[in-house]
Amino acid sequence: MTPFQAPKGVPDYFPPVSASFAAVRDTLVESARRAGYGHVELPVFEETALFARGVGESTDVVSKEMYTFADRGDRSVTLRPEGTAGVMRAVVEHGLDRGSLPVKLCYAGPFFRYERPQAGRYRQLQQVGVEAIGVDDPALDAEVIAVADAGFRALGLTGYRLEMTSLGDSTCRPQYREKLQAFLAALPLDEETRRRAEINPLRVLDDKRPEVREMVADAPLMVDNLSPETREHYEQVKGYLSALGVKYVENPRMVRGLDYYTKTTFEFVHDGLGAQSGIGGGGHYDGLMEQLGGQPLAGVGFGLGVDRTLLACRAEGITPGDVTRCDVFGVPLGDAAKGRVVALAGELRAAGVRTDLAYGGRGLKGAMKAADKSGARFALVLGDRDIEAGAAQLKELATGEQRQIPLDGAVAAVLEALGR
Ligand code: HAM
Repeated sequence: MTPFQAPKGVPDYFPPVSASFAAVRDTLVESARRAGYGHVELPVFEETALFARGVGESTDVVSKEMYTFADRGDRSVTLRPEGTAGVMRAVVEHGLDRGSLPVKLCYAGPFFRYERPQAGRYRQLQQVGVEAIGVDDPALDAEVIAVADAGFRALGLTGYRLEMTSLGDSTCRPQYREKLQAFLAALPLDEETRRRAEINPLRVLDDKRPEVREMVADAPLMVDNLSPETREHYEQVKGYLSALGVKYVENPRMVRGLDYYTKTTFEFVHDGLGAQSGIGGGGHYDGLMEQLGGQPLAGVGFGLGVDRTLLACRAEGITPGDVTRCDVFGVPLGDAAKGRVVALAGELRAAGVRTDLAYGGRGLKGAMKAADKSGARFALVLGDRDIEAGAAQLKELATGEQRQIPLDGAVAAVLEALGR
């Protein structure tokens, strides 16, 4: 029988890489914690209509990429393709929007999009996200961006840039949209691009083909057509970002794949990743809560791609987290020694020392090889004859240096050797 394989486009993470994966996730979460975001744990699947209404029917995410199926009760459910709609659903459902505002929440976990798999583009992707809901304040937009930036910096990343723009809001975007559509209608575009211009004219501005780029080079831009209020909002966001010491570049042609954004939107782009260069993105949204049956309150948030951030770390030669499995590796030589080492391992673990040992009755050579592979700093070698002498050998694996430690009091001796 052919062995099973993971579903197409779905990554597995195991040691030592999984330690870095977890470190990336935890570092990004920690950055959100420092700004007062509380952990939220939400379902991985929701009623399909939540995403259709929240994310937007015309987006690729909803129209082409959702994992949607009927459950056994014939309800249409969907594996979450993103986190914002679910957070908003929960906030409204539990009345958090009637408590103190803003509600600041942070989440981490898997999301599902049926995209064409390639390097850095997966069908199960992992994000760390935040949402700050209920207050429309440009300083909050800046905070969200700064939290993402601080998370990436805490990992040691430097090879990325923050791109930002304002998408306007209901007071100016409809007028701009008409203006852009009128501009595009006068161009000799192909049939498909023309259709795209009807549904989402902004996406034509982001077209990568040189001939289209040239045609839209003089197209009107949203940032030049903001209402006085949204312009002021955007200027303030930039001011607060400068106060926070966060560097950004403006990209007035930025297009996001989700429909709910208004005003500030942003993306973190890493240069070492090839085509899938977005390591995180987000923005402000005014109408989402109302759209989902709640009050007309604003929000702002981000989703940072953990998989891609890990790839970015690798591209910069950074290995986040501690990829060693243990501190001490027990090497028992003989049956009586095995009993003592097993017991000692339990004591060391209780004292907070990560401890593993050689199983399966391996000889000295095989056991020492396993010790090396484990990444442990010390091998604790015990032979049956050592027991009589009441001593064990503690060998520092990197240097080969060996010291004798008393069997009674071995835990204290190991702690001392580890500098604890
Ligand atoms: P998004 O831009 O669709 O935004 O996704 C955020 C990040 O998730 C991307 O920048 C990327 O790093 C990662 N990502 C997305 N798709 C994939 C994929 N197929 N494979 C690997 N990584 C991927 C959102 O999801 C919004 N909910 C963010 C947000 C929160 N906006 C406001 N609040």
